[in-house]
Amino acid sequence: MRYETLVDSIGQTPTVRLRLNQQARAKVYAKLEMQNPFGMKDRVAKHIILEAKKHGILRDGAPIIESSSGTMACGVALVGTYLGHEVHIVTDPRIDSITMAKLHSLGCHIHIVNKMGTNGWQSARLERLHELLNDMPGAFWPQQYDNPNNPNAYRLLADEAIADLGHVDILVGSIGSGGSLCGSARALKTYNPNMQVVAVDCAGSVIFGQPDRPERLQGGLGNSLIAGNVDHSLIDEVHWLNDEEAFAATHELARHEKIFAGNSSGSVYAVARWLSSQVSEQMNILAIFPDRGDRYVSTLYNPDYLLDKGIRTLKLSREPQQVDYDTVVHSWSYAQMIGAEKYV
Ligand SMILES: Cc1ncc(COP(=O)(O)O)c(C=O)c1O
Repeated sequence: MRYETLVDSIGQTPTVRLRLNQQARAKVYAKLEMQNPFGMKDRVAKHIILEAKKHGILRDGAPIIESSSGTMACGVALVGTYLGHEVHIVTDPRIDSITMAKLHSLGCHIHIVNKMGTNGWQSARLERLHELLNDMPGAFWPQQYDNPNNPNAYRLLADEAIADLGHVDILVGSIGSGGSLCGSARALKTYNPNMQVVAVDCAGSVIFGQPDRPERLQGGLGNSLIAGNVDHSLIDEVHWLNDEEAFAATHELARHEKIFAGNSSGSVYAVARWLSSQVSEQMNILAIFPDRGDRYVSTLYNPDYLLDKGIRTLKLSREPQQVDYDTVVHSWSYAQMIGAEKYV
């Protein structure tokens, strides 16, 4: 496929049928967002930045400042510097060396806060970001947690999936800012208002009412706060996996499907594979896979790291446990959202 600019090449990711296991019935298609230049958030950065330029909120050459330690940082770095903006990323010491190398190589300015604020690293990063905004009048802050152009960026993902599959009956996606799952769900429901939406979170994330466990090891999905872009009313069912289960699923995804991905794709894989065994063969399940595995080589793909964290076996049960929505969970469990209809 030919594109005149790298920014134009963002999106149009492959929709690939998964092999699954013997219990599978419905087809599961993975939307390989990891095959964007960096990952899923390239779409978000592209849409937010182009819209801000179109509406005069981001002027030519003005700096862009964002707080992120992962896929959003890479997306903003890519699109922002490509379009001639200075890009400043505020992050904390937990950033991995591969992401650092990517950001440096693109010519980004990286600001690493060195101690936690009143509410952990997140608040320290926001304090630094506001200092930078004050120091750089005219600077633009994409604000992925609250900017409606984060979910709006996934209208195109939905159109691509419909062009590839004809219909989507169940959407499965991980949740952090809420942009990818809620934005894709909103757009796909315009094609099929009865589509079921299944969110994948981690144990110890507050997005669906669990108590916060900031020591959780999974990256990307989960949160210690509920972002404005999370729209619970779109979601029918939520699954939570613990760290060992998420890592086990990510290893199974590589071993069995030959997809080397991050842990949010692994958890989405486990949930979509199980859902496939619960519904009829005619259904199409769409599963969103956000990023590649390269950022995780020294963590979930490193046996010494796993041992150090007390993870010895990488066990993943075949079945989640159904619980009431407000039950505190420690292993793979799922709950129906209040008022949601069960898929058949
Ligand atoms: C690797 C990865 N997976 C999943 C997510 C969650 O996606 P969203 O923020 O769209 O809810 C993120 C968000 O940063 C991510 O980086």
